[in-house]
Order: sequence, then C-alpha cells, then structure tokens
Amino acid sequence: MASKTSRIFLFLLVMTVSFVVLILSQEYLSKSWTIFSGKHELGWETFPLNINLWGQEEKTAVPPSVSTTAVVETPMPLLYRGNFTKLPQWDFDDVYNQDAPPRPTTCAQSLRNSQDENFKKAFLPNIRLFLHKDNINMSEWNRLSHFNNPFGFMQFKYDDVMASVKLIPKPKEPLLLPKPGGDGCVHCAVVGTAGILNGSKVGAEIDAHDYVFRMNGAVTKGYEEDVGNRTSVYVHTQHSITASRYIFGKYGYKSAPHDEGIKYVLIPEAMRDFQWLEGLFKGNESFSGPHHKKWPGAYYSGQYNENRFYVLHQDFLRYVRNRFLKSPNLNKRFWAIVRPTNGAFALFLALHTCDTVDAYGFMTDDYMKYSNYYVQKYIKTRVIFYANHDYKLEKNTWKDLHNRKIIKLYQRMEPESGTEKPK
Ligand SMILES: *[C@@H]1O[C@H](CO)[C@@H](O)[C@H](O)[C@H]1NC(C)=O
Ligand SMILES: *[C@@H]1O[C@H](CO)[C@@H](O)[C@H](O)[C@H]1NC(C)=O
Ligand SMILES: *[C@@H]1O[C@H](CO)[C@@H](O)[C@H](O)[C@H]1NC(C)=O
Ligand SMILES: *[C@@H]1O[C@H](CO)[C@@H](O)[C@H](O)[C@H]1NC(C)=O
Ligand SMILES: *[C@@H]1O[C@H](CO)[C@@H](O)[C@H](O)[C@H]1NC(C)=O
Repeated sequence: MASKTSRIFLFLLVMTVSFVVLILSQEYLSKSWTIFSGKHELGWETFPLNINLWGQEEKTAVPPSVSTTAVVETPMPLLYRGNFTKLPQWDFDDVYNQDAPPRPTTCAQSLRNSQDENFKKAFLPNIRLFLHKDNINMSEWNRLSHFNNPFGFMQFKYDDVMASVKLIPKPKEPLLLPKPGGDGCVHCAVVGTAGILNGSKVGAEIDAHDYVFRMNGAVTKGYEEDVGNRTSVYVHTQHSITASRYIFGKYGYKSAPHDEGIKYVLIPEAMRDFQWLEGLFKGNESFSGPHHKKWPGAYYSGQYNENRFYVLHQDFLRYVRNRFLKSPNLNKRFWAIVRPTNGAFALFLALHTCDTVDAYGFMTDDYMKYSNYYVQKYIKTRVIFYANHDYKLEKNTWKDLHNRKIIKLYQRMEPESGTEKPK
C-alpha cells in the first residue's frame, strides 16, 4: 500500500516538474499565456465576453510578445500542436482584426439590429472575413502562428504558406450587395446537406432568396424540388471540392456548383489548401499538386475568376469557434482536429454578410428520422458523427439562434415516417 502511494507521489512529482520545465521552455515565446482553464462556459449563449474588446483598434490584435518590438522581421520559432495536450489559451486568443463596415445597412429587420443581449455581446459585425496579400505581414504571421489550423498557422513554415498568401488578391467588392430594386435588405438562404431536406419541397422557397449559399456535396440536379437549383456562394475546402466527386458521384454530383457569376469561398483548413491556392493563382493549366491531379481551376467548371474568389481569414474562423462553437472536446487530447463544420462556417459567413438568414438542411433535434445526406433518398442512412466536429453543439446552436430570432432554421413539424420499415 505504502509503496503504491509513494509511486503515485513520485509520478505526480515527475509530472509537475516536467510541466514546469515545459512552461519555462515556452515562456520566451510569449510572456503571457495561460492554458485554457475550463472556466469559459461552453456555448455561445453563455460566453463571458469582455465587452471592452468591442471598440479596440486593430493594433491591439498584436500579441504582447511582439508589440513591444517596433519592427519584427523574422518568423517566430515554430510551435507544435503535439506540445499541447489541450487547446492552448493565449490572452490574445479572443482579439480579432476588424475591417471598415462593408456598407451602411438600410435594412430595418437586419440581424445586425438584433436586440438580443447575448448575441450583441458575441457578434462582431465587422470582423475581418478575408485573408489577402495586403493584410498579412510579419507581426500578423507571428500572432497567427500561435493558433492551430484553420484558426492560425501553428506548425506551418512561413515560406510554405506565404508562397500562396502573397498571391491572394484583395477582394474588389464585398461578398454580397443588396439587389437593385429590392427592399434594401440582403436575404440569404444557407443550404446544408442534411437528410431533413429530402421530401421537403422547399426548393422554390430557397431559390426565392437574394442569395443562396451551399457547401460540400451540394448536388442540386435531380433534387431541385427539395433543395432549389441556384447557388450564389459556394463554400469549400480543397478536400471537400475534390472528395465530393467520390462521395457524392453516385448521387449525381459531377462538379461544384458553377452558376454564372458565382462566388467561391475557400476555408484554408490545412497546408493542402495553401498548395491548392498557389496552383490556382499561378494559373498554369498544367499545375497539379500533391493532393489533386489537375489545375485547381478546372474543378470550378469554367467559373473560376480571381475577382470572385475569397479566402476566409483565420481570425474569422477562430472567432466563430471561440464565441459560438467552443466545444468541450477542445480540452481533450485530440483538441487540434476539433473545429466547426464547413456548414457552420458557411452559416456564420452568411450571418456576417446578409441581413436575414434562413438555414435549410442543418441538423435538428429530430435528425435521427432522416438520412445523413438529403441525396440519400432511397435508403435510410444513419447520421455519422466524426470526432473532429461537435455536431450536438452545432445542432443546439442552430436551434438557439432560431429561438433568438437571429436565423430562421428549417425544422419539420409533421411526423415523418420515412422508409424505416421494421426488419
Ligand atoms: C515539441 O514538439 C516537437 C515536435 O514534435 C518536439 O521535437 C519537441 O521536443 C517538443 N517540445 C517539448 C517541449 O515537448
Ligand atoms: C500588419 O498588419 C496588421 C493587420 O492588417 C496591421 O494592423 C499592422 O499595422 C501591420 N503592421 C505593420 C508593421 O505593417
Ligand atoms: C425521401 O422522401 C420521400 C418523399 O417524401 C420519401 O418517400 C422517402 O421515404 C424519403 N427517404 C428517406 C430515406 O427518408
Ligand atoms: C432553376 O429553375 C428555374 C425554374 O424552373 C429556371 O427558370 C432556372 O433557369 C433554373 N436555374 C438554374 C441555375 O438552373
Ligand atoms: C507550367 O507547369 C509546367 C509543368 O509543371 C511547366 O513545365 C511549365 O514551365 C509551367 N509554365 C509556366 C508558365 O509556369
């Protein structure tokens, strides 16, 4: 008994000492970091926000460790994801670059005018949405290198990432503008891929919006009655645009949506996305990369255009996670793969570029009644939960946003018997 106790004591001692050594070895990187303490309540509705963040100038987004130096010319030493057993919490984690407001809104019913206290606290209407060659520099690089991808550049080499970032053009226009002759509001539908849309017959309702966002395996041909046929904004990653052919090919997916004038938005989730961008912008028809076999532009079916291509900013992605979708899984060993879904990022992009947002095909409480994807019409599949996403948290967040009248979430009222026959 006594030897067991002393072994445990020795073990704890060794752990404590190594932890202290780890802290000391990291301290030169930043004088002020604290490990995610778990004191943050989970879920955006209870986020203990420091309201003082609101009015801060961009320069406060520079971490303390570099802001004291007038000119920073070199990338900081690499931080490794494997050195952290849970999400590291830096004191500048919840500080973000903001841009000038894209446009004055003339829309009285805009979600920007919501009086919901929790939403007002969490929502940054002018959060920087897009990364481009003119809004990156060495202090930005070093600040963002504290956060794992897609929330920053942790463990990435400066030259590898900058080879493509320095090619990303500054967007010439906001993602969306009010439609001429409309009511001054930007009305958006965001269409997820969930099975709830099968048999919904909301296609015409979706298409009636000013803009329609879709993501991932957004098959419309053959499903128009339920999901509509228009796509104005397609949100994707290198992985989703290349893998969708294999995953959804048998359901009719041939290529990413390519409506005339469509806007493409890339979530730079991994190094392969930066390689993709490099090939895309270099415009060399024969440029293929390690993760794809042809020029990336060919995946956009003739609609790729530099002026209509947007790359989401790490600050925006981190803000969505921190303020709205902070999963308890970020405290687990596999924290580094935990991130919101592409659908979640698309929905939040709409919340920051539209006045009204109607969400269709997102997960609802009764998800078990439906297939995983709406394209799975003829066989009832089960919804798959991957460890890198917190689907329950997302589901509850959509419902909460709906209840607070920030979005309108498509939910089905009628009992749906589906094809679940007793076996
Ligand atoms: C951090 O991770 C790197 C790469 O895996 C490793 O070489 C290094 O020893 C680790 N540092 C500490 C302090 O554990
Ligand atoms: C670097 O970029 C940030 C964000 O765009 C900006 O606030 C800052 O002033 C820039 N710093 C330098 C030294 O140019
Ligand atoms: C899809 O919708 C159709 C029409 O409502 C229905 O007959 C079918 O059972 C549904 N499929 C599944 C898998 O729920
Ligand atoms: C969508 O459907 C409508 C009505 O059937 C049709 O007029 C329109 O051309 C279609 N749009 C696309 C992009 O296929
Ligand atoms: C385009 O790529 C091919 C194959 O990698 C290469 O041989 C060629 O020189 C490149 N052309 C330009 C203009 O970069």
